[in-house]
Amino acid sequence: MSERRIIKKTEEMDEYENETGKLAIWKGKESKEFRKWQIKKQKNTLKQQKLESLTLSREERKKIKFEIKQEKEVGKDYEHLIVVENLHKTYLLGTTAVAALRGVDLAIDKGNFIDIMGPSGSGKTTLLNLVGGLDTPTRGKIFLEGRNISMLNDNNLAEIRRERIGFVFQFYNLLPQMTALENVMVPLHFSGKLSKRGKRKKAMDLLSLVGLDERSHHTPSELSGGEQQRVAIARAFANDPAIVILDEPTGDLDSKTGIMILNLIRDLNKKGATFISVSHDAAVSEFATKVYHMRDGKLTHEGKIGGLKETDIMQLRRKQDAEINKEKCKSLIFKFLYTNQGKTNIKVSDIKNSVPIPIVSNLPEHFNDILDELIEENNIKGQISGEELILD
Ligand SMILES: Nc1ncnc2c1ncn2[C@@H]1O[C@H](COP(=O)(O)OP(=O)(O)OP(=O)(O)O)[C@@H](O)[C@H]1O
Ligand SMILES: [Mg+2]
Repeated sequence: MSERRIIKKTEEMDEYENETGKLAIWKGKESKEFRKWQIKKQKNTLKQQKLESLTLSREERKKIKFEIKQEKEVGKDYEHLIVVENLHKTYLLGTTAVAALRGVDLAIDKGNFIDIMGPSGSGKTTLLNLVGGLDTPTRGKIFLEGRNISMLNDNNLAEIRRERIGFVFQFYNLLPQMTALENVMVPLHFSGKLSKRGKRKKAMDLLSLVGLDERSHHTPSELSGGEQQRVAIARAFANDPAIVILDEPTGDLDSKTGIMILNLIRDLNKKGATFISVSHDAAVSEFATKVYHMRDGKLTHEGKIGGLKETDIMQLRRKQDAEINKEKCKSLIFKFLYTNQGKTNIKVSDIKNSVPIPIVSNLPEHFNDILDELIEENNIKGQISGEELILD
């Protein structure tokens, strides 16, 4: 093993650097793929040296060059945990083709908390499903820990999902007849690496990490929405995944509980865990280290700059910007309603879509709350019913 320089050491992880780049290890574990890649890289160096020999025949030279090219693919961009390259996904609905992703490029590093915002149907879930190995792309590549996973068969993808990815969805997806502890133990049974006692201990540790050790014997129906989501987060970490994927993690929670969940995710992120999340909820982006916007199958705009800590002044300025955006948002809502004169039932999503994404994604509160505020203050005369605004 090459020489390591430890950058940071905490109880949960070692972060070190060697000649091949930076690597954070969650709970002191090194991924198998990384080790394989290191060996490949060493072999490649030997081949490079061989190429310099003057006695090689043309044929031999060609063969070595080809092998080096192939292996480069394997180690591609290992310095990034995930690299997404020109990703396309087209669904076929009968004879119609729906282009859900149209050339997405993205790099995710260890320790990132990436949030992707965008309107309904813009391709967010499709992107997450591809990154998480739940589906395969029509075109383009996805490298996870240096391995191209876009071409893998179902069995290999299932293994990647089991070993390297954690999932958290909007509706928790816990097994209703099992306790919190048993739910967290489920992925541990599948990986089959620990003894029964080991599994229990690990599941208990994870539950205490999310602050639920005292509720371990409760079933989902005995837990609140926020608690159920915490169990789902603990479960997502069961197999020490490289990344945890969050699809609308606060989508089914009230805003206060949502913030509690986001605080927990941020704490785990600070301990070294990597997240990618998609949401409609502007609050998520407040907690993320990097924010992207998705529109019509493309990533359009990057918000925060990863790794940079916000200074107080930056934070203040952002808050001021958010307040200005709120005013802009209100006037755009009025403008939209004005141009819709005559209609009494208007879809909330249509109103929201009339406000540009950079404004919606940088509001001091949820878009719906702003709409409610306008109604409460009698600036809009009407009421919200389901997904519609009904004007008086
Ligand atoms: N399995 C599928 N078959 C056909 N079309 C699909 C399928 N899944 C998604 N789509 C289409 O692909 C596009 C992107 O969908 P996707 O679910 O990725 O959007 P989204 O951004 O996650 O939306 P939302 O915010 O509503 O969850 C949409 O037009 C959708 O109708
Ligand atoms: Mg979705």
